[in-house]
Amino acid sequence: MSETAKISIQGKEIELPLVIGTEKEVAINISDLRSSTGAITLDIGYKNSGATTSEITYLDGEKGILRHRGYAIEDLAENSSFIEVAYLLIHGELPNQTQLDEFDTNIRRHTLVNEDMKNIFEAWPTGSHPMGQLIAMISSLSSFYPESLDRENYESQKLLNIYRLLAKMPTICAMIFKKSLGHPIIYPQNKLDYVSNFLNMTFKHVTEDYEIDPVMVDALNKLLILHADHEQNCSTSTVRLVGSSHSNLYASVAAGVAALWGPLHGGANQEVIEMLELIKKDGGNVEKWVNKSKDKNDSFRLMGFGHRVYKNFDPRAKIIKKACDEMLNKLGVNDPTLEIAKKLEEKALGDEYFIERKLFPNVDFYSGILYRAMGFPVEMFTVLFALGRLPGWIAQCHEMREHKQPIGRPRQIYTGYPYRPFVKRSDRP
Ligand code: ACO
Repeated sequence: MSETAKISIQGKEIELPLVIGTEKEVAINISDLRSSTGAITLDIGYKNSGATTSEITYLDGEKGILRHRGYAIEDLAENSSFIEVAYLLIHGELPNQTQLDEFDTNIRRHTLVNEDMKNIFEAWPTGSHPMGQLIAMISSLSSFYPESLDRENYESQKLLNIYRLLAKMPTICAMIFKKSLGHPIIYPQNKLDYVSNFLNMTFKHVTEDYEIDPVMVDALNKLLILHADHEQNCSTSTVRLVGSSHSNLYASVAAGVAALWGPLHGGANQEVIEMLELIKKDGGNVEKWVNKSKDKNDSFRLMGFGHRVYKNFDPRAKIIKKACDEMLNKLGVNDPTLEIAKKLEEKALGDEYFIERKLFPNVDFYSGILYRAMGFPVEMFTVLFALGRLPGWIAQCHEMREHKQPIGRPRQIYTGYPYRPFVKRSDRP
């Protein structure tokens, strides 16, 4: 089989090399296309364009496969902890016990945030969305750790910035939650593991004892693992693009959080619950809402349905659906929106419109029901997604730097006016 692709452009034929991935995925390397033909490729929304090669995550949307560093998401969700998966994504291998202990200890050492960060909250109006606050808080870490801006010492500062960001993220997320309630913040307790510490900072009330429920710890570990990386999606590509200008890690990740916020991406988990509540309030007629989502004159879409790359099923959604049933049982929560979600899924999956377009429930379809059962308000759902995605963003950003990739800078095809002579204001119609 030929390892090149032949392209004929305006009478000129050129041969371009193919790049073959581990799983035999094929790409045409077009790096020399413009210099030899003057042409570029156009792929709006990057539906067919690879921006990079990567060793971190493998995803086959047709077969519903997701693997991190070769390990199946099903195995990781079943057997691992979030912090172990974070190590795997960032360092490339599963840690042995000593490596895991060292990683964990280094993260625990940095959980506290500078007291001055509390002042930032004073400036925000009550009720401002947690995601806007999260972006600002992560970005502001670069002000508290100015050595992260030191380009000369990128290598020596790298691990410290990773530990700081991983460690402070749960503290910041919990602070945002406490501030939304007008409650005093709960400081981190470094004797607690990553997930337990976050739950304690979030749900412990300053005046009362709080018992950390192992069912919640398990559920949250699983949810965070399922969100830990997803190769070159909108937010990860943003982190890589911003990082490609050698922006510091905090600024790059803050940009990723901004990209995640949108309802077509991570913001969908909030919108799913709002949609399910709306359907419940409307009498629970799922057929009506499925029909609405098919109507091209109606802007309504079934939130939590469809995915750019999964065209069979989203393996994460399968795991979350099962976990949702189990956890709600264990937590003794009876949430009527779960029933509506199941009916909606059944209706849509049997509908020709959804079958034809290969639209399946995605990771966000059931995650919100679990988050809510744990006690998180809907505004915090995308914050939890960001907490889970953090190790993926870090791993991807550092891979991009390690591969010494150039600054990301797409081209365009200009479709505006050709040259026009300037017209004096007095001569304009
Ligand atoms: N409800 C109804 N119709 C849909 C839906 C939906 N949720 N999703 C896609 N479609 C239809 C589109 O209208 C389009 O129909 P057409 O071919 O008749 O024009 C077709 O399916 C293809 O959809 P696109 O929007 O072109 O697909 P794209 O890959 O660009 O978008 C996306 C994927 C953004 C996820 C889309 O499916 C969507 O908006 N889903 C709802 C939001 C959501 O759940 N986002 C979370 C994604 S997972 C994540 O980011 C973590």
